[in-house]
Amino acid sequence: MYPFSTPSSIVRNRWYIAAFSNEITREPMGRKLLGLQVAMYRKEDGTPVAMYGLCPHRYFPLAQGKVRGDALVCGYHGFVFEADGKCSEIPSQGTGAGFCQPIYPIVERGPLCWIWMGDADKCDPALIPPYDDFGLNQPGWRYSSANYFHLKGRSQLLVDNLMDLTHLPYVHHHISGGEAMKNPSIKDEERAEGYRVSRTGKVPFTHFHELVFGPEARFEGISDFLSLTDYYGPEFIRTGLPITTAINGNPDVPPALGTLNILHGITPETENSTHYFGFATRNFRLEDETLDAFQYESDCKIRQQDVEAIEAVERDLDEGAQRQRELLVKSDAPAVKVRRKIEALLNAEQAEPSTARV
Ligand code: FES
Ligand SMILES: [Fe+2]
Repeated sequence: MYPFSTPSSIVRNRWYIAAFSNEITREPMGRKLLGLQVAMYRKEDGTPVAMYGLCPHRYFPLAQGKVRGDALVCGYHGFVFEADGKCSEIPSQGTGAGFCQPIYPIVERGPLCWIWMGDADKCDPALIPPYDDFGLNQPGWRYSSANYFHLKGRSQLLVDNLMDLTHLPYVHHHISGGEAMKNPSIKDEERAEGYRVSRTGKVPFTHFHELVFGPEARFEGISDFLSLTDYYGPEFIRTGLPITTAINGNPDVPPALGTLNILHGITPETENSTHYFGFATRNFRLEDETLDAFQYESDCKIRQQDVEAIEAVERDLDEGAQRQRELLVKSDAPAVKVRRKIEALLNAEQAEPSTARV
């Protein structure tokens, strides 16, 4: 499946964001994740539960049922499923059943709930992207701008989009200074946390920069900039606002006032649709709610533009990919490297028989 040679483009042995923590409550919620319906709710002690979402009796969506104690009661004929999946009650028989509804490991870390839908023997919470690397739940950092978009496009199109920032001046034409991303110098490196792409070039001072960093970040003329993109896996990518002082060639540019991380959680819904979770972290202007509001508005606008571009690609992708070989250029190098990494994961998974999947 484009752009991979494997039939599926979904890597299953990863932790994916299933929901923002505040979406999961005592009212069950349903979400299709990695091609499967999942019902999520909280136990009485607040622990989240993720259960395969279709009742085994008549395939009614369990998310339309009710939580009772720690159990989920199907809204059609009242079968009761405990938090470990065990069917403890069939009202029409006055009994339980030997049947267990599949349960998925779900881990709540700060504002995010991560789900594992891959092989049970490979499930390890240490594989959740490292929060300390991007300032989430860390002292001295602020979390803001949580937003969600449903994307009618395969997840790889979003990964490609985030790894190739030459789209900035075209898709996000309202961002002044985006021209700098047309042809920056690019370096990449493998880190313990993931694959890093560094872009450097020249950038003028912009109004956008001032809105984020404040008037004290103002400078005359042109500055060097450094922009980092970190790929942690097909499920999570960090991009950053250009840091204009890290490699400062202009003595008038003030010292760096902080780091703003834009985080992208990418969870396949199906083979060609995606849940796009966004949020930001920053280590400056920590109490500034005006900046939170600006950040939220700006991020949503930018994400909406990306969603529209990707959906336009997805609509006729099969036709295009069948008629013409994809034209890859120099700026595609990071995206192509990432595709190779993902393809290796897909090949490894699809060559191995799976264990304990629904
Ligand atoms: S469909 Fe769930 S109890 Fe019948
Ligand atoms: Fe974009």
